[in-house]
Amino acid sequence: MQDTLARRKHALYGNGMQMMMIYSSPRKRGNSTTLAKTFAQAAKQTYTLKEVFLQDEHLEPCRDCRWCKTHFRCVIEDGMNDLCQAFRESDAICFATPVYWWGFSAQLKLFIDRLYQLKLDDFKGKRLYVIATGEDTLDGVQYRLIREQFEAICEYTAMQFAGYLPVCAGDDNPAKENEEALEQARNLLTKA
Ligand SMILES: Cc1cc2nc3c(=O)[nH]c(=O)nc-3n(C[C@H](O)[C@H](O)[C@H](O)COP(=O)(O)O)c2cc1C
Repeated sequence: MQDTLARRKHALYGNGMQMMMIYSSPRKRGNSTTLAKTFAQAAKQTYTLKEVFLQDEHLEPCRDCRWCKTHFRCVIEDGMNDLCQAFRESDAICFATPVYWWGFSAQLKLFIDRLYQLKLDDFKGKRLYVIATGEDTLDGVQYRLIREQFEAICEYTAMQFAGYLPVCAGDDNPAKENEEALEQARNLLTKA
């Protein structure tokens, strides 16, 4: 099984590695997407990118029917099975999210819930990067809560929490004009 996956990956990406970029803001030119796109531009030197705008995917929430636990795919045929395959094949993942009510976006939560069909082994060893933008200043508790939630997820799944970039960015303070944050996004891969 591992061997088949390795052969498939090699056929798709050669010897290179794949990173899956998950943009979870509904705003395609918003703050988290701007920073994640800047990160992606730098990451391209190391990874083949698979970019997904959750807003375009129209995914349903998990039904907790546990069908996936015996069939190893989701009973809902809305595209998530293909996204899970891409997730499985990725060496690194980047989640970009706006802060919504002290947490990450509902779009991202829904996506992560739907990863329930994967085996723990499918997560193991992947490098996880998270970019979160909120309106509040960085001493706000939401940035810590988001970091801690991903730390717990990584501890459970044996993914490596490789980089976290929280940024204060509202409409009055857009990320695209924040040179310091853009530079941090460019360096996130190598800083970690
Ligand atoms: C529904 C909603 C809830 C929000 N809740 C928070 C919050 O709890 N803390 C915060 O700092 N910003 C909050 N914000 C502001 C956004 O996180 C902020 O504008 C962010 O930069 C938007 O990211 P985007 O441009 O990538 O969509 C909220 C915005 C919305 C629409």
